[in-house]
Amino acid sequence: MTFDPQAFRDQFPILKQRLSKDRPVVYLDSGASAQKPQCVIDSESDVYQRYYANAYRGVYEFGAMVDDALEASRATVKSMINAARVEEIIFTSGTTMSINLVAHCFGHAFLSTGDVILLTEMEHHANIVPWQMIAAQKGAEVRFLPITDEGLLDESRFDEFFTQRVKIVSVTGMSNVLGTINDIPRLAERSHSVGARFLVDAAQTAPHVTIDVQKDNIDFLTFSGHKIFGPSGIGILYGKEELLNALPPFLGGGHMIERVYQDHSTWAHLPAKFEAGTIPIAQAIALKPAIDLLEETGLDQIQDYEHHLTKQAYERLMEISGMTIYGPSPETRGPILSFRLAGAHPEDIAQLLNRRGVFVRHGHHCTMPLHDRLGVTATVRASLAAYNLTSDLDALIEGLHFVRQRLRLT
Ligand code: ALA
Repeated sequence: MTFDPQAFRDQFPILKQRLSKDRPVVYLDSGASAQKPQCVIDSESDVYQRYYANAYRGVYEFGAMVDDALEASRATVKSMINAARVEEIIFTSGTTMSINLVAHCFGHAFLSTGDVILLTEMEHHANIVPWQMIAAQKGAEVRFLPITDEGLLDESRFDEFFTQRVKIVSVTGMSNVLGTINDIPRLAERSHSVGARFLVDAAQTAPHVTIDVQKDNIDFLTFSGHKIFGPSGIGILYGKEELLNALPPFLGGGHMIERVYQDHSTWAHLPAKFEAGTIPIAQAIALKPAIDLLEETGLDQIQDYEHHLTKQAYERLMEISGMTIYGPSPETRGPILSFRLAGAHPEDIAQLLNRRGVFVRHGHHCTMPLHDRLGVTATVRASLAAYNLTSDLDALIEGLHFVRQRLRLT
């Protein structure tokens, strides 16, 4: 069965709207957050309309229905990333919380003065700042694997950076600016060869690329529901069971305890140990139809289609005078294109494109150190998803010609 982008798009009601002047919605900001298919909207609303109750607390009918639906969702995540056990799947509020959890708990358990936390120059702030915070507390050092001018990790510098001092390596699976797809098995192997643990920030990877935590020997993996067509407010932390068991809890409160005394408490087993308080119930349940949709459609087919679209977008953008696209050739990138037009400020470009119904993000995209490395303060970013069509690219290109004309670029 071949992938039918129009049929896929038809499942997203928001994209069927017409904007002023009868313009279609040209949504090119899925890297920030993806739109929601009808099945996800229905699933979330169904919880509230038919069986809402708190999770893991009530033996009554609605409580049991919620628990069953949550565990079905957890099992779907397990199978999506090929985890060994459901207990290794922790519901969080998103990638940011997942990485903060690991940084805080791993840092307190395993980091001490002089240890190195190894990141890369292409990381999102969510995969930098939590490490800086724990490094400051533990006297550890945060180092950054350099990138080449093309936007790939500079393998010629690996020997210099992968040293015995490194205790954890935390790397994006796909850059949210450059689109670079990193070689995860190779990075896992290099990390483990110096005795370090290996975390993948899969926020951008999860909607586009198949993940296999066992095959790739990943210790921790994080992603967000809202970028994979699921609800916002729900995210995932995967961790190998023995590692999660070795970490202290992150947040204290209800559900994460085994027994509370006046002077101390003991902790629940996984995954409850890391799920203090009331989790985002309807959102966690509605994550399942989002993953089911990705799997029924086939991530391989989605990836092939997006690759074709990205290549087309790259080539057509490069034909525009004054265009600079950041990052590698379409062969090693996912569907993300960040660019600048000589003589135009990225915010002006985004504003003018908005007038044509073309929605893109501008700014530093939460990657200030990467923008410093690129020597610019801001870029415009078009990020694609499986519901984008060639007509969206037509609108982007036509919109950029409109920008050039309005700003009188020569
Ligand atoms: N991390 C999201 C982005 O890259 C918000 O836009």
